[in-house]
Amino acid sequence: MKTTLTAVRVDLGAVGGHLQPSEQLVSAVRASVEEKTDSFLIDCWVNFTGDDITILCTHENGLDSPKIRDVLWDAFEKGASTASELGLYGVGQDIRDAGMTGAIKGLGPALAEMIVEERPNEAFLIFSIDKALPGAFNLPFYLAFADPMHCPGLILSPRMRQGFRLVIMDVLYKEYDREIELNAPEDIYNMAALLRDQNRYAIRRIESRSTGEQAVASSTARMSNIAGKIIGKDDPVAIVRIQDAFPSAGEVVAPFQIGPYVGGFMRGCHHGPLMPVPLNTKVSFFDGPPIVSCAAFGLREGRLTPPVDVFEHPLWDHVRARLAEKTVEIRRQGFFGNAMQPFETIHYGGLINILRDLDERFEIRHPPD
Ligand code: F6R
Ligand code: MG
Ligand code: MG
Repeated sequence: MKTTLTAVRVDLGAVGGHLQPSEQLVSAVRASVEEKTDSFLIDCWVNFTGDDITILCTHENGLDSPKIRDVLWDAFEKGASTASELGLYGVGQDIRDAGMTGAIKGLGPALAEMIVEERPNEAFLIFSIDKALPGAFNLPFYLAFADPMHCPGLILSPRMRQGFRLVIMDVLYKEYDREIELNAPEDIYNMAALLRDQNRYAIRRIESRSTGEQAVASSTARMSNIAGKIIGKDDPVAIVRIQDAFPSAGEVVAPFQIGPYVGGFMRGCHHGPLMPVPLNTKVSFFDGPPIVSCAAFGLREGRLTPPVDVFEHPLWDHVRARLAEKTVEIRRQGFFGNAMQPFETIHYGGLINILRDLDERFEIRHPPD
């Protein structure tokens, strides 16, 4: 059976600024989507990560289906009106215009979609990230699909012997989707040369070179830099098929223990380590740190098993303790150096105004003749 998986991440408002949606908000979104499981959808699942709600739908309508967009938009509208009734902050942030303080950020829900020719024992993961850009997936996915140090399946499994094809998008190219296909293993240096830059390049999709099947779909989308303000979709979501010709669940999730510094922490302008957390975890410290959750599913004729909460295992407590130290450590240096993102990627107008004002006060002192 051909099943479409549609995963969407949306910020409709939160309690405490951008910390966590309320239970009633998540329930309103869930009720709206569940209502459609008799008609347009086969199954669905709704939860949250930081201030974002993740909706996973299974159906047979294919990619970019107007019917499914209507189902989702209806849920967003119902969620936003619930958020408004309850007095949440940033009501309908992703479906209305700008943030309250003029920060134009993360406009628009993030969407990852994939058509799956269901294997007899289909298995996949849903990753949701809060307070980071789509490029935050670059390092863990590269290591899971192209590096035998992290993915022993690349040398142990004959089904993975031919490696994987990565489709990488230039998210800063404004006109159209600009992307490149690179093959592991022969292109791994080229991959590294692009993937190192999380602000510009992001993995959009990964395919098995042995079977041609798609393994990864992520919510990469074009960003635009308008008048010094970055506009685009932060807080990405990704679908990753696992096992058989793909890396195992453990091979995909293990690289997340690195907790690489990613951009998107506090006002989307700082760097912080990407911390793997259980499902339904809020953010807190400095509106963060950036977090990633992971739900594992089985699938049969479009019906989902209940999810397994992957980062809830006790080993990840140890990882979290280390990454908490890493978080506090970079915060010690405040605005300085690598703690804050480079000027070009800052989407708050305040800094731009300061620099513009100061620019006029600079004087050029010529050397005496
Ligand atoms: C980062 C984030 C928060 C807000 C911050 C200011 O992605 O969501 O750090 O940027 O709380 O929020 P506003 O601009 O809405 O007052
Ligand atoms: Mg928010
Ligand atoms: Mg968010």
